[in-house]
Amino acid sequence: MSARASRSKSPRPLMFYRLAAQYDALTGSKDSRQEVAYLETLARRFGRSGGRSWLDVACGTGRHLQFLRRHYRVVGIDLSAPMLRVARRRLPSVRLRRGDMRTFTLRESFDVVSCLFSAIGHLRSEGELETAFRNFARHLKPGGVCIVEPWIDPASFRAGFVQLVSHADPTGAIARMSVSARRGHRSIVHYEYLVGQPGRKVLHFSEDDIGLLVSRRRLLEMMRRAGLEARFLARGLTPGRGLLLGRKPIVPR
Ligand SMILES: C[S@@+](CC[C@H](N)C(=O)[O-])C[C@H]1O[C@@H](n2cnc3c(N)ncnc32)[C@H](O)[C@@H]1O
Repeated sequence: MSARASRSKSPRPLMFYRLAAQYDALTGSKDSRQEVAYLETLARRFGRSGGRSWLDVACGTGRHLQFLRRHYRVVGIDLSAPMLRVARRRLPSVRLRRGDMRTFTLRESFDVVSCLFSAIGHLRSEGELETAFRNFARHLKPGGVCIVEPWIDPASFRAGFVQLVSHADPTGAIARMSVSARRGHRSIVHYEYLVGQPGRKVLHFSEDDIGLLVSRRRLLEMMRRAGLEARFLARGLTPGRGLLLGRKPIVPR
């Protein structure tokens, strides 16, 4: 198996690079075990390929993989080396590769390809999205399913939304405040981070994280152009985002 890392310039959000070690603490309100139980139900209901292999693209720190591996032979891909370092500590025996969702190449195909928690929202254009969907489709077995959690629908995006997330334990503390804004088809979430570790000065970081706002209708069109039978499921993982589901036809269209 080989995975190619992209040479194209992607943004490097603090949370996936400098603050990768704090990612789980910042997103700890998500229940990955419960999410995986639902994802597995979908894979059983919609999948027609009959096997038990699962590729999680943009797997981050491996939180879904740790539960998926109980029932599936799993592989994880992510662009960020720091996120993969955390995943490797959590899952030393799982195959984890560095790669870009648009360009990775594995010499095998899977029964399920997932891409969760709106990782596709970090792509910069609709062209890049379609390239990623084609790559997901390429890595599916006939009858296999692709499960993608989209970024917020443009019709539901709320500018001016303020959020505060914090976590503290004996190893340190982190607080993140964000305010959302919108410029055309881009969401701009401004983040301020404070990171404290025992005996050290409190660190302060800030950044604007830019996301691509694309309607569900457009996303489904792109999945269909990528050769998948696509549908939208209103019940998803993160409230309000839903899931895109694409099945690779058993007989190519
Ligand atoms: C919000 S996190 C989601 C991580 C994980 N799926 C979860 O649910 O916790 C987004 C992940 O997407 C990864 N990512 C962003 N752009 C990517 C790309 N072009 N190819 C592969 N991974 C990417 C980031 O490194 C990060 O780990």
